[in-house]
Amino acid sequence: MAASWCIEKRGSIRKDSFRDNDNIPETGCLSIIVLGASGDLAKKKTFPALYNLYRQGFLQSNEVHIFGYARTKISDDELRSRIRGYLSQEKENHEVSEFLQLIKYVSGSYDSGEGFTALDKAISEHEISKNSTEGSSRRLFYFALPPSVYPSVCRMIKSYCMNKSDLGGWTRIVVEKPFGKDLASAEQLSSQIGELFEEPQIYRIDHYLGKELVQNLLVLRFANRFFLPLWNRDNIDNIQIVFREDFGTEGRGGYFDEYGIIRDIIQNHLLQVLCLVAMEKPVSLKPEHIRDEKVKVLQSMLPIKDEEVVLGQYEGYKDDPTVPDNSNTPTFATMVLRIHNERWEGVPFIMKAGKALNSRKAEIRVQFKDVPGDIFKCQKQGRNEFVIRLQPSEAMYMKLTVKQPGLEMSAVQSELDLSYRQRYQGVVIPEAYERLILDTIRGDQQHFVRRDELKAAWEIFTPLLHRIDNGEMKPIPYKPGSRGPAEADELLQNAGYVQT
Ligand code: NDP
Ligand code: BG6
Repeated sequence: MAASWCIEKRGSIRKDSFRDNDNIPETGCLSIIVLGASGDLAKKKTFPALYNLYRQGFLQSNEVHIFGYARTKISDDELRSRIRGYLSQEKENHEVSEFLQLIKYVSGSYDSGEGFTALDKAISEHEISKNSTEGSSRRLFYFALPPSVYPSVCRMIKSYCMNKSDLGGWTRIVVEKPFGKDLASAEQLSSQIGELFEEPQIYRIDHYLGKELVQNLLVLRFANRFFLPLWNRDNIDNIQIVFREDFGTEGRGGYFDEYGIIRDIIQNHLLQVLCLVAMEKPVSLKPEHIRDEKVKVLQSMLPIKDEEVVLGQYEGYKDDPTVPDNSNTPTFATMVLRIHNERWEGVPFIMKAGKALNSRKAEIRVQFKDVPGDIFKCQKQGRNEFVIRLQPSEAMYMKLTVKQPGLEMSAVQSELDLSYRQRYQGVVIPEAYERLILDTIRGDQQHFVRRDELKAAWEIFTPLLHRIDNGEMKPIPYKPGSRGPAEADELLQNAGYVQT
């Protein structure tokens, strides 16, 4: 196993950043700047992930300083008290207090030099205080911001806040989804950012790539003899990639209505998972080799057919005052994607995502074909199915047919079950954001979306999205707490899925 897969627990970033022979160790003090520090993502995900990295020794107080930046005028202490409750439930926690002391807040707008000059000054003071050799300091800008301000923020960073020399230090930016609304807008945004930053400086985050079982896909597929000969059109009948949430768009209706479930979940999170399920074996574990293979999958996709799409909108969605009464935005979608290559020709990849459904779950279901010449046909309970549950309660299980224990000779369906909670008792599975932020510090882009990958992803969905935006396709109403529209189950059956 290559060293680049090992995330050591304790120890400084310097030591841990030896990930393989190609990566040089990184030195110099580290400034992490959370732009949009007053917002939802920052308090719920970014700061807690930074705290967890700090707690585990990946960020050390002798080299790290964290800066919050936003327009809201608050003091350092006000920011600290806003986020404290998201770091720990305990009222008094020494480690939390120590961590919070590493955070400084700077207020300013996203398009004026004044704020970014003040930010640069604060970062430079920190660098000087840490006796950083000129140019060896590292500056990581995390955009917890609406994408509308990305271009101006990039210009400001480029003009005022870059690491002052390239003698060993760096400046990197981490951008969140949604990255564009369709092919044209995503390409425009990519060009605007690309004029200011090189691709190795840009980390397009998709937090599904930081989930434990998503990261496991590569190991599972390419380190197990079991799967190698079976993972193809000769053996697999259909693959489902499913995301369900048992709550609606509460509090985010305004944002969601502009994007809808396909842009919010399928075009990014589920498509990234699909790439890892479907891609060929990369030449090595180097990020570029892996991303090359993912791009090939995307480029081999056939256009999505309208008759293989079912859209839904839950009843009550439009009661949200921030959602227009005539909204055509889908909160649910099931669709069939098809890959035109030697391995997958004819195998439907069924993508399903929905809000306000009957459960919260994300899983991959690989359903195998019926056994040829099956002599147990009259008794057999179902097909072989391999299920990878990404959340909740990470697990992998294989549904297989076995003899019913007892005197009679009959077949029954059972499972080989690898439930993480039971198998890896006491092991804490890190949050996706934790891993991914650590990767940005280490300069590992494997789990980030490359520009050509993003372009190919938008190419697949843009025609369909435009038809929905133009009102040519309408979502079917469904009851909150249900499985979604019944038509989606029909589509699933038509695609070949058999309930086991
Ligand atoms: P928020 O709406 O909370 O915005 C973050 C901060 O940006 C706000 O505190 C505000 O700070 C500033 N801001 C908000 N609107 C504008 C505007 N129109 N113009 C300029 N500044 C603005 O966003 P989130 O924190 O929810 O999300 C940030 C990014 O992360 C987005 O791209 C989002 O899509 C993405 N994301 C969010 C997730 C979540 O769970 N929240 C999950 C996955 C991705 P101030 O006014 O103080 O400057
Ligand atoms: C975000 C979407 O990217 O992912 C949200 O914008 C969704 O709508 C969230 O709720 C789901 O993430 P997770 O990790 O809870 O499955």
